[in-house]
Amino acid sequence: MTQTITVIRGDGIGPEIMDATLHVLDAMNLGLSYEFADAGLVALEKHGELLPAATMDSIRKNRIALKSPLTTPVGEGFSSINVELRKRFDLYANVRPAKSFPNTKSRFPSGVDLITVRENTEGAYIGEGQSLSEDGETALLTQKITRRSSERIVRYAFDLARKTGRKKVTVVHKANILKSTSGLFLKTAREVAQQYPDIQCNEMIVDNTCMQLVMRPEQFDIIVTTNLFGDIISDLCAGLVGGLGLAPGANIGTDAAIFEAVHGSAPDIAGKGIANPCALLLGAAQMLDHLGQPEKATKLREAIVATLEAKDSLTPDLGGEGNTLSFAKAIASRATA
Ligand code: NAI
Ligand code: MG
Repeated sequence: MTQTITVIRGDGIGPEIMDATLHVLDAMNLGLSYEFADAGLVALEKHGELLPAATMDSIRKNRIALKSPLTTPVGEGFSSINVELRKRFDLYANVRPAKSFPNTKSRFPSGVDLITVRENTEGAYIGEGQSLSEDGETALLTQKITRRSSERIVRYAFDLARKTGRKKVTVVHKANILKSTSGLFLKTAREVAQQYPDIQCNEMIVDNTCMQLVMRPEQFDIIVTTNLFGDIISDLCAGLVGGLGLAPGANIGTDAAIFEAVHGSAPDIAGKGIANPCALLLGAAQMLDHLGQPEKATKLREAIVATLEAKDSLTPDLGGEGNTLSFAKAIASRATA
């Protein structure tokens, strides 16, 4: 059976890492076909808008998109195209795995294997009700948390634990101080947790979580938290395991899901063919899990690890002398062995 996915090649290093990623996926014979769509700077230049209707239609139809980083030009309508995509498709779950990889510049070359599940649609991060008093002395912001959104994100985290054979979910909050908002999130999380007696549920206050992550990251399995805390914690976790070149992310909703690299379009190295394709490849592995091809996802991840272990054709950011395509070819040959 053929599955059509929307492919957004993106800006800067986007097309380079996407070509490399598709090279690997094609080699693996996954029965995928691609519908290419534009977004970002390239869409603005070609079609006069950052997020053309044809791109939205394509994602709506295929329900799955693999997306390279996009450049959001300053002062062009949206503050961020990525945030806009999350909003329009109600992509409520931001899922960011962080795993130790060999031969990376990391404080934790082993032992870290966790997933941050971040609520993506509400809380302070959304910027609702922002205002500044006329005298410029007082700024306000509304923070809204609902039971519905809290419930669905916590449920997503527990379901993910079951699906991936993970044993523990840590609910990260600040309910001791933010009694209404974080309080409602925590209360809802406790209710949901009761329905998953097979999964251990821990609670941890967000500031302590940051310290614990830096000191003993191996204690974490799945973390679930609200939007702003999740934004910060997921980058912290990427830092634990060697930075953005290896950090994938998924934005998942009921009707659509978008898989991506966490890093940006890296204009400083664009066009040089030296960008590290791993983050997007790992995003593609998340996509394969989502598409019900977990064996293929595992195969792809193992091929990436083996290539890192062998220091075969690594890109310069990993200390190698390879390039985007040679690295991808080295991964493809292991993924198909
Ligand atoms: P960036 O992530 O593009 O780059 C930060 C640094 O990391 C740069 O030195 C870059 O060369 C390096 N880097 C990033 N990805 C790499 C890779 N795959 N291989 C090797 N080195 C890599 O962040 P920056 O510079 O803040 O943003 C650049 C543009 O990207 C901006 O226009 C921003 O809006 C956009 N952006 C887009 C995102 C998305 O579409 N998901 C996310 C973050 C930023
Ligand atoms: Mg962030």
